[in-house]
Formats: sequence, C-alpha cells, structure tokens
Amino acid sequence: MAVRPIRTYGDPVLRLKAKRVAKIDSSIQHLIDDMIDTMRAAPGVGLAANQVGIPLRVAVIEMPEREGVITLINPEIVKRFGERILDEGCLSLPGYVGEIKRSVRVIVKARDRNGKEIRLKGEGLLAQALEHEIDHLDGVLYVDHLESPDKLHKQERPSPEDTQQEEVASEIA
Ligand code: NI
Repeated sequence: MAVRPIRTYGDPVLRLKAKRVAKIDSSIQHLIDDMIDTMRAAPGVGLAANQVGIPLRVAVIEMPEREGVITLINPEIVKRFGERILDEGCLSLPGYVGEIKRSVRVIVKARDRNGKEIRLKGEGLLAQALEHEIDHLDGVLYVDHLESPDKLHKQERPSPEDTQQEEVASEIA
C-alpha cells in the first residue's frame, strides 16, 4: 500500500471519462488500497481513481462520522432528490473553494470491492461526496458547476483558533 501523488487541475487525466472496470482483479484491489491511503494522507473525504492518474471507474469515500471506507466500482446515480447550495473543495484544486448546487439526497448503485452489487442512500455530506466523486469519473470538476466565476474563492488560511475552517474546506476530495 502506498500514497500516490494527486493530480491537479490542468492534468488531462482529470478530464477523461473513466472506463468501467470489467474485472475486479488484484491490480484493482491494489489500486483501491493505495487510494484509501492517499485519501487519508491528504486528508479528504473521498478520492476518484483519475485523481491518481488511473482513468477507471473506482472511487473511495470515508465519512468523518461513519465507520469504514465505502468503495465504489462502476458507480451510477440512480436518483437525485432536492437541491441545496454549499461550499465545496477538491484535492485536485488545492487552495480554492466554490459555491455550487448539489442534491440533498441521492441513491447510487455500484459494486463493492468484492464485486457485490450495492445500493447506497446518501444524504447531506455523503450525497455531496457521492456526486463529487462520480463527477470526477466523468471528467467533471466542481468548478464546472459554478454559476459564475465570482462563486470561486481562494481559501483563506485559517487562524489558529479557527481550525474548523480548514476542515470544512478539505471535506471533499
Ligand atoms: Ni475532487
């Protein structure tokens, strides 16, 4: 297991539509393990395979208040509910945060790392993370959802007494 470098804005691999995984073999298991290490080291709430340079439909999510890593292979959003405006960041665009619209709730189907079909209901931050990571797999970045350029902000350096701010901005990966 290893931490892999995270590709940043401008790298063409972030704009590729990732390919479906045909077979969950040992190289995919290895990729998943490395993605989990990379996500935790960043730290971030999620990571898509193209962020480590592999254009395959694999993503991992780990929520602060939920135990265990969610591994998604060939994920698809089945349904979206509601709309809300929120601040979002991305490990591939360090130092920025943007105000965009996301769903309140989503239903996603995917395979887990054992190949088992799973259906996930996500609300709030989990819904946001699911939409963010599945966007990555389609070559979409959160900045594509900005209504106007002035909705993108440089992330201010948090003062020592305001560490919350940094946590919020690194929520999504
Ligand atoms: Ni991201």
